[in-house]
Amino acid sequence: MSKSFDIIVIGAGPGGYIAAIRAAQLGFQVACIDEWKNAAGGPAPGGTCTNVGCIPSKALLQSSEHYEHATHHFADHGISAKEVKMDVTKMIARKDNVVKQNNDGILYLFKKNKVAFFHGRGSFEGKTDAGFAVKVAGKDNEVLTAKQVIVATGSSARALPGVPFDEEFILSNDGALRMGAVPNKLVLIGSGVIGLEMGSVWRRLGADVTVLEGLPTFLGAVDEQIAKEAKKAFDKQGLRIELGVKVGEIKAGKKGVSVAYTNAKGEAQHLDVDKVVVSIGRVPNTTGLNPEAVGLQLDERGAIVVDADCKTTVPGIWAVGDVVRGPMLAHKAEEEGVAVAERIAGQHGHVDFGLVPWVIYTSPEIAWVGRTEQQLKADGVSYKAGTFPFLANGRARALGDTTGMVKLLADAKTDEILGVHIVGPMASELIAEACVAMAFKASSEDIARICHAHPSLSESTKEAALAVDKRTLNF
Ligand code: FAD
Ligand code: NAI
Repeated sequence: MSKSFDIIVIGAGPGGYIAAIRAAQLGFQVACIDEWKNAAGGPAPGGTCTNVGCIPSKALLQSSEHYEHATHHFADHGISAKEVKMDVTKMIARKDNVVKQNNDGILYLFKKNKVAFFHGRGSFEGKTDAGFAVKVAGKDNEVLTAKQVIVATGSSARALPGVPFDEEFILSNDGALRMGAVPNKLVLIGSGVIGLEMGSVWRRLGADVTVLEGLPTFLGAVDEQIAKEAKKAFDKQGLRIELGVKVGEIKAGKKGVSVAYTNAKGEAQHLDVDKVVVSIGRVPNTTGLNPEAVGLQLDERGAIVVDADCKTTVPGIWAVGDVVRGPMLAHKAEEEGVAVAERIAGQHGHVDFGLVPWVIYTSPEIAWVGRTEQQLKADGVSYKAGTFPFLANGRARALGDTTGMVKLLADAKTDEILGVHIVGPMASELIAEACVAMAFKASSEDIARICHAHPSLSESTKEAALAVDKRTLNF
């Protein structure tokens, strides 16, 4: 006998679990299915983000940054420690505990909101009068039915052709987050977000790190001035980034991996390293979902085809997050999940894709929202730019971290803020002010006239706004 619900959500990553909670808040009977298993085989809701993405990477970035501060920067503050030791096993165990707290938190939220959770793989069986039938293959095989289904099955790491992940020598994000010891030599393929964040973690802990990037430009989607400033900082730290390479044969042996590649000058190169992390983007997850049973259309990348409202080609089935078009970000998945639950309830859920912030949690952090200078030029928009360096900010000096700047781009005629780009300390937190300002269609003059606490890093945003009108006070 099948169990009947108003809404079935497949996947409990940030897109799915948030959609399930919002739908339950709106009064629907909701089931959420997720197959992720913890080490003991139990449920581990939260998806890529919680288990092998946002949360564990930020835990290791924090631990490794503490280590780098203790070994390299404490002395500047007059603090000396005789023997700073690092215990990678403990660091990984702490990270695992942070992950578990998040898994448990989601299970608690499901209970609190009366979302029925099913641990197992969900696959479409077809459509009946009772709605869509979804089979759950888990400890107990069950069939659930509902008139509305939200697919939030996320994404997985993309492998290089002919180089499958073994998670011992050839690592995806999963293996990169649970190495048992610091590798002497590490290669990361792809200098995107994972390449930079994971490269930073293992470099700080002592690995000799090389990042091989296929494109000739560094962080092509980032504002050029900001990317240039970030690259300067990474070069200084010893994070070796080679651009414009063509990766050749990668061969795992008994003790390590050999990586052949051609550099930007066309010269054949070869590296023998302990491990290779492949971070060349991610592919949408539809394996095992049996989308054919209901006629769900996929695009050429394997993503589920949706319109701007996350409606698939099958009425009653919606899809959100990494499994559909758009940036693969947890907060984008969450916003779509909320909007879909509200649309099913007849409300007008809305996601403004132009206001989705990006953050790269390296040191310095890189964060932006809105359009870059190169995009504004390409779009033929006349704009004014204002920048303010952290070097001239009192709080940044007190912190001992003056790398980078805030850059604000405003419409030349209306002064409306069109983009904010930050490289520097706590950029991840500073960007929220820019998101709020842009959501309310603020002008740079608005930010310039708002009282910001002193001393704070956020004064740099105010000063960048003043710089748009060439009237900075502290630079
Ligand atoms: P997912 O989180 O992938 O969740 C999908 C869930 O569905 C999984 O639990 C999966 O097991 C389950 N599932 C799949 N198929 C089925 C099925 N048939 N039946 C049952 N369950 C199924 N984004 C940020 O915004 N900030 C960050 O700092 C950040 N850091 C990241 C770091 C790394 C290393 C990685 C890899 C990603 C990071 N991301 C970050 C991206 C972020 O993790 C994703 O954008 C986000 O997890 C997408 O959410 P989702 O709900 O669409 O999918
Ligand atoms: P990415 O798309 O950020 O970067 C991939 C990089 O690999 C690109 O620079 C690309 O040019 C390069 N590349 C592709 N094929 C290559 C090849 N054959 N040889 C050499 N270089 C090649 O993808 P990444 O880093 O794997 O991360 C996946 C996604 O996960 C991100 O796009 C982001 O959406 C999400 N993420 C978000 C984070 C955050 O918000 N802080 C952190 C980590 C991941």
